[in-house]
Amino acid sequence: MMMKIMNNKNIILCGFMGSGKTTVGRILSSMMGRKFVDLDDYIETQQQTTIENIFKEYGEPHFRHLETAAAEELSKKSNLIIAAGGGTLTIQKNVATFKATGVVVMLDTPLTVIKERLKEDTTRPLLQKPNRNAVIDQLYQNRLFAYKSAADIIVPAGASAHEVANLLMHKFSI
Ligand code: S3P
Repeated sequence: MMMKIMNNKNIILCGFMGSGKTTVGRILSSMMGRKFVDLDDYIETQQQTTIENIFKEYGEPHFRHLETAAAEELSKKSNLIIAAGGGTLTIQKNVATFKATGVVVMLDTPLTVIKERLKEDTTRPLLQKPNRNAVIDQLYQNRLFAYKSAADIIVPAGASAHEVANLLMHKFSI
């Protein structure tokens, strides 16, 4: 039986870029028979453009505005599995919005794994800088506390996405 707290509540996956939110979310959604929504994809579909382009054309503050609005829209629904963006749950307003109708799960992925996954990334606007490793170190350090404080559940997420999804299924069923 699913943990009672999960009844109809959205499940929001948070964590750093490259922590596995989207991959784990997709697997978990098929395991649980729930609809999956990736917050960045939702914004891209709504705005008919890429996140990259939104940052380039209108800047990060505008993206954050769209992100907050998207979080508010999705929080009105139930039974969703939502992969947040890496910055979403570092903003207190979004934490409150998501927690009103959902359970926040942090994917606690080791920094070494994150760096390896993000090494070749060409699409994330915050990483398109020459000193990528230093940028990741700094952002990670600034954000870790926020993710952990926002989370109702923290899962170690250095293993494969399937293993992490299994671990979550187990947590939800006790
Ligand atoms: C961001 C993470 C991205 C995306 C945007 C900003 C961040 O999402 O929302 O590029 O601030 O960490 P992912 O974590 O899915 O890459």
